[in-house]
Amino acid sequence: MCGIVGYVGPAVPSTRPLDVALEGLARLEYRGYDSAGVALVTPTGLATAKRAGKLANLREALEADPLPPATAGIGHTRWATHGAPTDANAHPQLSADGRLAVIHNGIIENFAPLKAELLEAGVPFTSETDTEVAAHLLGRAYDETGGLTAAMLAVTRRLEGAFTLLAMHAEEPGTVVGARLNSPLVVGLGDGENYLGSDVAAFIGHTREALELGQDQVVTITAEEVRVVDGDGTPATGRRYTVDWDANAAVKGGFATFMDKEIHDQPKAVADTLLGRHDGAGNLVLDELRIEPAVLRSVDKIIVVACGTAAYAGHVAKYAIEHWCRIPVEVELAHEFRYRDPVVSEKTLVVAISQSGETMDTIMAIRHAREQGAKVLAVVNTHGSTIARESDAVLYTHAGPEVAVASTKAFLAQITACYLLGLYLAELRGNKYADEVADYLAELGKLPAKIQELLDREGEVRAVAEAMKDVTSVLFLGRHVGYPVALEGALKLKELAYIHAEGFAAGELKHGPIALIEEGQPVFVVVPTPRRPTLHAKVVSNIQEVRARGARTLVIAEEGDEAVTAFADVVFRVPRTPTLMMPLVTVVPLQIFASALATAKGLDVDQPRNLAKSVTVE
Ligand code: M6R
Repeated sequence: MCGIVGYVGPAVPSTRPLDVALEGLARLEYRGYDSAGVALVTPTGLATAKRAGKLANLREALEADPLPPATAGIGHTRWATHGAPTDANAHPQLSADGRLAVIHNGIIENFAPLKAELLEAGVPFTSETDTEVAAHLLGRAYDETGGLTAAMLAVTRRLEGAFTLLAMHAEEPGTVVGARLNSPLVVGLGDGENYLGSDVAAFIGHTREALELGQDQVVTITAEEVRVVDGDGTPATGRRYTVDWDANAAVKGGFATFMDKEIHDQPKAVADTLLGRHDGAGNLVLDELRIEPAVLRSVDKIIVVACGTAAYAGHVAKYAIEHWCRIPVEVELAHEFRYRDPVVSEKTLVVAISQSGETMDTIMAIRHAREQGAKVLAVVNTHGSTIARESDAVLYTHAGPEVAVASTKAFLAQITACYLLGLYLAELRGNKYADEVADYLAELGKLPAKIQELLDREGEVRAVAEAMKDVTSVLFLGRHVGYPVALEGALKLKELAYIHAEGFAAGELKHGPIALIEEGQPVFVVVPTPRRPTLHAKVVSNIQEVRARGARTLVIAEEGDEAVTAFADVVFRVPRTPTLMMPLVTVVPLQIFASALATAKGLDVDQPRNLAKSVTVE
């Protein structure tokens, strides 16, 4: 959840370590924003600054009280787990002698007994964090071993949990050491300088050359060198790669917020996810599916594991994959999966969907699935992430970096990638002929233009949202693939606008939720295409049912669907689209609505309260 950056540069002290750390933190702030801090190695020892609140508070403090030039630096932006977001609990945390600084992402599960042991030994604590335990242990281990790398190896053997640590010591002015235990850490390779980051955004302004680390590894960076060892000290090598996006992809590009920019990135996110995956003649090209065709043919069940918006993308995919492939698909929230003793065999294909590829709940679910013999296929946006590394195959969504905490373009790219997977399986298993697959691919190919059409008309949705900024509750109804869209519409409104919002399967209405309807209650209804008359008629009835009880109905319906007009207070039109593709268009007005309403309320849509972009603790 926290953002971490580390930097080592030339031996002559300068302001660059602080500049690099602050720039990295600005790009990483989406990971957590309860507090921020930096530590530098200067000729006179360590210098630190940290502040509760957003990075702006730290910048203000640094302007008022600048830090001296340095040779290395670390920076941290926090999502609080142990201890409130205060200055004292912000990172870096220091060893008792103040000569070693540590920043940390994740949780040290056995911190309580270790803290008791340190207190018993007379070590004074100044924070409530689990991180401070690591700082004191590292300080003591440094005194015993005389080296930062050796100290890190000794201490990580004693720590339990899932975490990343970065440390610096005043005696080693040209070194930063990192440890990765079930938590993200990546190396940036510069020219006469090197970087560490919890993701490549930390250093993308300086280099696109990166080194992927494995779990339980310790990395030592100097200006000239990167040394990687396994947890037992055996030398290891990371995998080098070039990041396929640059710093410009992670800027607002003229939009007021990342959220707005990313909503507008969606035509490209879908197009890029399709790009190179078909040959133009309607044939699928999915070479990256490294699971043997024979194994995929033998699959008798698919289980999608994911959280939040990614789980809703899986829910949409279920309808398509079951329809196309005739394989049962279960969608499971990843955090529930391994605790319920799921029925998994070597014939189960587990599809893990994740934008970040670092969601701890999803990581634990895929580990459990693999232990049971299942093959795991990841649908992931972040190159080299833990879920991508630990899966049997990866189908990357090419949405580009998603910086706003609430997910938008990743959702559309995830559905698109899952549809490619579904079509591939359908053809491989003989459920669809090649020409049928080609027809679906052609429909997918039309989606970027349809999404763009909706974006060109976003003003209609914005005007309605702005007029509704004082509402306190909004309900969302959908049927079939419209149901997960309703769930996603409600989630977006909750997280961006802090409004009570609930999504329901429209058919469930009369089984309880209709009791919530009172005069003026806003209800969004996602209407299927009228070319599915039975389904369509049911939803039109649902609109009438809530309207008859006083609801204000906001209807998302296909162009030319006049059956809804009489019962809708507001209609948002979407282009004519085949049933299974409709989520890729119907969700767009809901995203715009949530973003515009939150903006009208004066809220920070990029960094909503209490949230972090990547949930790297269970
Ligand atoms: O990185 P992931 O896709 O694994 O993240 C999953 C969820 O944490 C994420 O979708 C979350 O629900 C967002 N806040 C949705 O906007």
